[in-house]
Amino acid sequence: MIERLPTLEDLGDVSGRTVLVRTDFNVPLESLPDGTRRITDDFRIRAALPTIEWLGERGATVVCASHLGRPKGAPDPRYSMDPVAARLAELAPGVRLLENLRFDPGEEKNDPDFVSRLVRGVDLYVDDAFGAAHRAHASIVGPPRTLPSAMGRLLQREVEVLLELRRRPKHPFVAVLGGSKISDKLGVVEALLEVVDSLVIGGAMCFTFMAAQGLPIGDSLFEPDQVETCRRLLSTGKPILLPEDITGVDENGNYATFGRRLPPGAMGFDIGPGSAAAFSDAIMDARTVFWNGPMGMFEDDRFASGTRTVAQAMADTKAFTVVGGGDSAAALAQFGLDDRIDHVSTGGGASLELLELGDLPGLEALRGAPNVGH
Ligand code: 3PG
Ligand code: MG
Repeated sequence: MIERLPTLEDLGDVSGRTVLVRTDFNVPLESLPDGTRRITDDFRIRAALPTIEWLGERGATVVCASHLGRPKGAPDPRYSMDPVAARLAELAPGVRLLENLRFDPGEEKNDPDFVSRLVRGVDLYVDDAFGAAHRAHASIVGPPRTLPSAMGRLLQREVEVLLELRRRPKHPFVAVLGGSKISDKLGVVEALLEVVDSLVIGGAMCFTFMAAQGLPIGDSLFEPDQVETCRRLLSTGKPILLPEDITGVDENGNYATFGRRLPPGAMGFDIGPGSAAAFSDAIMDARTVFWNGPMGMFEDDRFASGTRTVAQAMADTKAFTVVGGGDSAAALAQFGLDDRIDHVSTGGGASLELLELGDLPGLEALRGAPNVGH
């Protein structure tokens, strides 16, 4: 048990009991011409199988429940669980799956009536929805108030790995952050700066830092209202590594490579080859690496090489490597490198929030369950 967090063993005998398993089956879908939807990546479904199988092998009746997308509290065929139910039936035959939890407005409002309906006829609760553990929604924080509860194997592994990074990382510890917005990641940036030996910044958020250094960034995407914050972070003297070159397009829209100064009308879309090499060196020399957020617009092949180089270094380094969900996990899968990472988190926002705060609403709720000693 990690700090009073109950594990599956703490449920006692599960045989003959009905177990509600909150999973995060919020998987990416694509629409097909015939109007049906297809799962493009079933990673989150496969990641919940150890828990589902553990319960099934011990004679429990498993009922899974998840949200999918962001429907507005009402049934919406675009967010139907049907494609997920079909895949789950292949991977774990006989397991029930409830309809999208967010079809009911009570889910996001954490409505007690909705919680009562969820736990009706249920004996035990298991939370394996790491990707949603930062949401204080009904299906996450409600059931542990009354049902003996536990974290599933996926949630347990995520929490163990991410808290270890926060508390006892092996040094040098390098964090690589990308993505477009520094405003989304400010909290985790500040928390990471307390523990890392180097914070490497790529993605469009580097332009806000470069603007804070007084460099011309052309027409690149940046956050004007965060320039002052970036200036403050840089002035702390903490080890922040920024790109030394940028690739993008010039004022005529032609592919171009720049140094640290972008001319008027130019736009940066990726870190340049020199930066990619420097970032790769930092990753290769580390003993622990956390990576969240692509280095550039990797969906466009012209601007994928920064992200590809970082992904390759993540695969090649001897360091313990952790990737925080979302776009970086998708990039790794696209490059076929996901199986060479020590831990690919199923949660984007949740992994950042756990690194920042050291706790999540879903974990807090489990500590209050009736089977946990107080
Ligand atoms: C995710 O995909 O990040 C989780 O499933 C949470 O989804 P949400 O951001 O819509 O709450
Ligand atoms: Mg390794």
